[in-house]
Amino acid sequence: MVGSKGRGSNMRRLIEAGRAEEFPGRVECVLAPTPDSPAVQSAREMGIPTTILSPKSADYPSELARVLDGVDLVCLAGFMSLFPAEVLDQHPGRVLNIHPALLPKFGGKGMYGMHVHQAVLAAGERESGCTVHLVTPIYDEGRILVQLSCPIEPEDSPEALAARVLRLEHQAYPLAIRLRLDELAHEQPSSDEA
Ligand code: GRF
Repeated sequence: MVGSKGRGSNMRRLIEAGRAEEFPGRVECVLAPTPDSPAVQSAREMGIPTTILSPKSADYPSELARVLDGVDLVCLAGFMSLFPAEVLDQHPGRVLNIHPALLPKFGGKGMYGMHVHQAVLAAGERESGCTVHLVTPIYDEGRILVQLSCPIEPEDSPEALAARVLRLEHQAYPLAIRLRLDELAHEQPSSDEA
């Protein structure tokens, strides 16, 4: 699990989901770039080990690889930079990301946070939603695992739309994890899909 500087609401949702007996995974650790993020604070309050790794540090990829060694899935939520390709190679088909729009629309570099919802409204879309997808070396590409959509109301502000989409995100991420773990359990060991 990789957290972020952000609110950590998806992270909290996944920690909670993992505590349900019938859920097939659990959050083992939370990574974040700075110790003072709400995500880190929440993880600590919920009793989950945290690791702070700055993407600016020279040994970031090797440290990230070391910390993630042995985990089954890496779930990005509010991860603002490109996930290092060499670490991706060590976890083929096992790094997931959540995006607050219906990819492939409104994705790519610069499409994050409120920029996404502003662009969706500016384009006159009738619906939006969220996407959980496998991570590749290109921003917001990779096979889509789960998409949930919601209508856009004529009076929506970016903030109102963001709040509606975030509620969907909290449903979509646990669904995608279930799906991906189930797929992995049935894949050949040599599969390196992304
Ligand atoms: C979410 O909107 C997610 O789609 C995007 O970053 C945001 C993270 O929110 N990638 P939170 O920190 O999980 O509340």
